[in-house]
Amino acid sequence: MGGTRLNNMKPTIFISRMIPDRPLQQLKIACNVTVWEGEMPPTRRELTAAIAEVDGLMSMLTEQVDAELLDAAPNLKVISNYAVGYDNIDVAAATARGIPVGNTPGVLTEATADHAFALLLAAARRIVEGVAYVREGAWKTWNPIQLLGYDVHGATLGIVGLGRIGHALAKRAQVFGMKIIYHGGSNEAYARDTNAVQVDFETLLRESDFISLHTPLTENTYHMIGADELAMMKRSAVLVNTARGGVIDTDALVNALQRGLIGAAALDVTEPEPISADHPLVHLPNCIVVPHLGSATRATRERMGMLAAQNLLAGLRGEPLPNCVNPIVYAKREA
Ligand code: DGY
Repeated sequence: MGGTRLNNMKPTIFISRMIPDRPLQQLKIACNVTVWEGEMPPTRRELTAAIAEVDGLMSMLTEQVDAELLDAAPNLKVISNYAVGYDNIDVAAATARGIPVGNTPGVLTEATADHAFALLLAAARRIVEGVAYVREGAWKTWNPIQLLGYDVHGATLGIVGLGRIGHALAKRAQVFGMKIIYHGGSNEAYARDTNAVQVDFETLLRESDFISLHTPLTENTYHMIGADELAMMKRSAVLVNTARGGVIDTDALVNALQRGLIGAAALDVTEPEPISADHPLVHLPNCIVVPHLGSATRATRERMGMLAAQNLLAGLRGEPLPNCVNPIVYAKREA
């Protein structure tokens, strides 16, 4: 196994991938830490073996934590997901076993909004195609109709899910003079703050020049962008996804991009993820795919690690997690 374990009477924890040093050192003070040091995640079998006796698990979004896995970890007292999204965890199964689950909201909001806006700009102004054009030696002269993109300023941005990250994106869009409409997310202060107008889903699809997805992946949001929704969008619409790949029906998106039903897509997340290098989506000129980099800055990943460490340590002490996605677990304990 790609890990190392220290030995004393401290609680034992398993971290399913190497994390930044500061949170790791903090955890090592209080715990016996085993870190999965492989570049690839542990296989299901390796993960099952690794958590058989641990008190705490720090999981990544690459690990499926379900009832079967939890049953193989009878000592587990806390799961700390190193991500704000937790669709990889069967929270109901954890709750049923009295295990609190932590996540890392807030600390990655700005980085993810920066990334979403970078993707929006890159797709609108065909930056990736332009780079390839120069690298291929195709740049022979200036040309009035060469690699024309879409105006961002003055365009309408439709935000699906005006939560923390959606709001942070809206702040950036405001500076670019965009009109903002949104569907989903009920924080009125976020809407007021950015002059964002709430509309129904169909209106958002029909009226937006740019659509950015900021909704968690749930049963209700799985494939919420499919063939019908893509057909409602403007033929010039640019679709940005920094949420979860499963929110979009990939086959329908490939079809829409190939047939020019929408203008372009910029995807930080895909279904499946990772997507293979020979997938059609990766080779469409009007599609940008990057490898789930929304929170990938040094400072943000360290902050995520610190928060994930605080969640883990609180759970090991039997205290409420600073960010718990199933606080009902505490009520169940008292009952
Ligand atoms: C998350 O936190 O859910 C992101 O997808 C990865 O940082």
